[in-house]
Amino acid sequence: MKPFVYVTKPVPKEIEEMLAEHCEYEIWTSRERIPRTTLLEKIKEADGLLTSGTKIDRELLSNALKLKIVSNNSVGYDNFDIEAMKEKSVIGTHTPYILDDTVADLAFGLILSSARRIAELDRYVREGKWTKSEDDESLFGSDVHHRTLGIIGMGRIGEQVAKRAALGFDMEVLYYSRSRKPDTEKKTGAVYTGFHELLERSDFIVLVTPLTDETYRLIGEAEFKKMKPSSIFINISRGKTVDEQALIQALKEGWIKGAGLDVFEKEPIEKDNPLLSLSNVTLVPHIGSSTHVTHVNMLKSAVQNLIDGLQGKRPKDIVKELR
Ligand code: DGY
Repeated sequence: MKPFVYVTKPVPKEIEEMLAEHCEYEIWTSRERIPRTTLLEKIKEADGLLTSGTKIDRELLSNALKLKIVSNNSVGYDNFDIEAMKEKSVIGTHTPYILDDTVADLAFGLILSSARRIAELDRYVREGKWTKSEDDESLFGSDVHHRTLGIIGMGRIGEQVAKRAALGFDMEVLYYSRSRKPDTEKKTGAVYTGFHELLERSDFIVLVTPLTDETYRLIGEAEFKKMKPSSIFINISRGKTVDEQALIQALKEGWIKGAGLDVFEKEPIEKDNPLLSLSNVTLVPHIGSSTHVTHVNMLKSAVQNLIDGLQGKRPKDIVKELR
């Protein structure tokens, strides 16, 4: 008998075909998030779960009577309660490598949009406000090239951001990470600095660290106050790595010049979030890896991890805490 897999989001046909070859499966086909109660019901029968962002906690695992593997279709896995998964001997996998360039591209999109005010000035044009000449200083932004970029969390995505900065934009690249990355330094010329030095010296700060107990609200009031008033802050990690209220204050009171955000404390963003009314921030809806090619490649890898786990082989991308 084939194992039964539950899939919490719609997937393209080719992914469904890949699943069908090896598993019985059911897919949540709505674009609305799956209600928790539905998932708690469905998980009772599942040998495997293909998901992203769904909380895998004690409540869900206590309902999961047969579950062997949760395959996350994302590189981040802060949705995993690692201890609870260990206790239940549930394998957890993710999709590293595949999305590095795509997420790094978005980081640069946010850097450019924030520095040159692209999203803000798009609204200006659409709203019919373009009546003055383009050398009007009120439309000016900041240069990106030849300035200093600080990367917090130098993993694979960070390295791709560093490469774009150094080779494409002639930027000086600083980084701070739990450990030094000599290979990345060699490839990109990035220079390891202390955390506070990076905050003080950088014109652009990109936060790429995973969300863990140590990185929860890593950037708050004290950190924003250390940044230059001309600096631009980019978050492509997780919303909870930043104290969002402090960020709002920093943007309102000019502690920093601007921000570009792919991630938020609450997603989807709440309608009354003050960020929505600030002009000096570019907001996108957690689309770091969202291109057609990367999405399908991530799903292929996630399904392969899932099938391997269900067939008793060792999936190649088990998250490090569960290896
Ligand atoms: C992931 O895969 O964890 C990222 O959030 C992509 O944006």
